[in-house]
Amino acid sequence: MSKLPELINLDTIADNLADAVFIVDLEMEVVWLNQVAEEFFHTSFQIASGKKITELTAINKLDSLLNEVFEQQTELKTSYEETSVKVKRDDQRYYFKIAIKPVFNEDKLWGALVQLTDVTRFHEIEKIKTDFVSIVSHEFRTPLTTIIVGVEMLKEGMLGELTPRGKEVLEAIGSDCERLSRLIDNLMELSRIESGTIYVEAEPTDVNDLVQEAVRPLKIQSEKQGVELITDLPPELPPVAADFNKSVWVLTNLVGNALRYTDQGGTITVRVRQRSKRLFFSVQDTGSGIPKEHLDKIFRKYVQVSGPGRKGTGGVGLGLAIAKDIIMAHGGEIWVDSEVGKGTTFTFTFPVYQGSESVTLPNADPEGG
Ligand SMILES: Nc1ncnc2c1ncn2[C@@H]1O[C@H](COP(=O)(O)OP(=O)(O)OP(=O)(O)O)[C@@H](O)[C@H]1O
Ligand SMILES: [Mg+2]
Repeated sequence: MSKLPELINLDTIADNLADAVFIVDLEMEVVWLNQVAEEFFHTSFQIASGKKITELTAINKLDSLLNEVFEQQTELKTSYEETSVKVKRDDQRYYFKIAIKPVFNEDKLWGALVQLTDVTRFHEIEKIKTDFVSIVSHEFRTPLTTIIVGVEMLKEGMLGELTPRGKEVLEAIGSDCERLSRLIDNLMELSRIESGTIYVEAEPTDVNDLVQEAVRPLKIQSEKQGVELITDLPPELPPVAADFNKSVWVLTNLVGNALRYTDQGGTITVRVRQRSKRLFFSVQDTGSGIPKEHLDKIFRKYVQVSGPGRKGTGGVGLGLAIAKDIIMAHGGEIWVDSEVGKGTTFTFTFPVYQGSESVTLPNADPEGG
């Protein structure tokens, strides 16, 4: 094995990395940076050293992320969304993924290593994909509507009587159309969220109205399925700050999921409770439950859990991803508790309405972190 020449030291290696790298102390002041960092942030070691990293990079998010690392004393474990930031430089937009590792000196926390990976290209591809999905799903809409209307006309006998077999086939076509239609709706909703062009208009919303509107379309289906659908709301709840249509959408999706994974004889309960300035909405079912190892994944796009006892669901795994985006845009949270064989409870929160306010979706403009 050949030896590394004397001339090649750690600086040489660090300067040849593709990422911008900083070392900061516990005050978050820059102690060291590599050449890529110097070039990207138009600085030099002399200017940068001793300066706060947030000031130098104008990435405010570094503050909270570094605090998190210093508190936990382990490397950053937050999601991609939470650690990627948009940075404007010379009229160009760049996206960075932030990684932070604590640095120890003789077992004592000393500072941190901050690494910024340029993921701009990745973002551009994501954008192209989102636009594509948006266009394609939009284009599917029109012919599908024609098909659905045609099927309805045939069903009602407006085009002549059908044989029993003909009716069966038509039923199958009809329910596949419904599936397609739901899929297209979800894809369109998702691309709208991802392109950051929709706003959540948080208005005072009556909770009872919201729940009734969400549950109504699923009443008949639950009766057919032999599943009891209960709503449990205390009287006199304050209005929540929510976008009516979008929050109905979330609740309908959760109840729809519950219906799909709950067998005859089961129960679904939609519950609302108030705790100080927040309302907790939960959808509890007595269905199949979700295995532990999948619990942290189901809010991601296109994730579905397979396994014994799981029937074909007709979805593609978008409902919860969209629901999470919508809830977060309202400043709320959503989570799940589940036990295999016992059932699942999804809970989300909405703030109590406190005056005029409107919020935008989180990825609408994550400027400067
Ligand atoms: N109440 C529930 N009980 C058991 N599993 C569930 C429940 N809700 C969701 N899941 C699991 O989480 C996965 C993701 O749910 P999600 O709503 O995102 O997608 P989907 O319902 O499969 O499809 P889509 O919502 O796009 O029509 C589901 O495929 C299912 O495996
Ligand atoms: Mg769903």
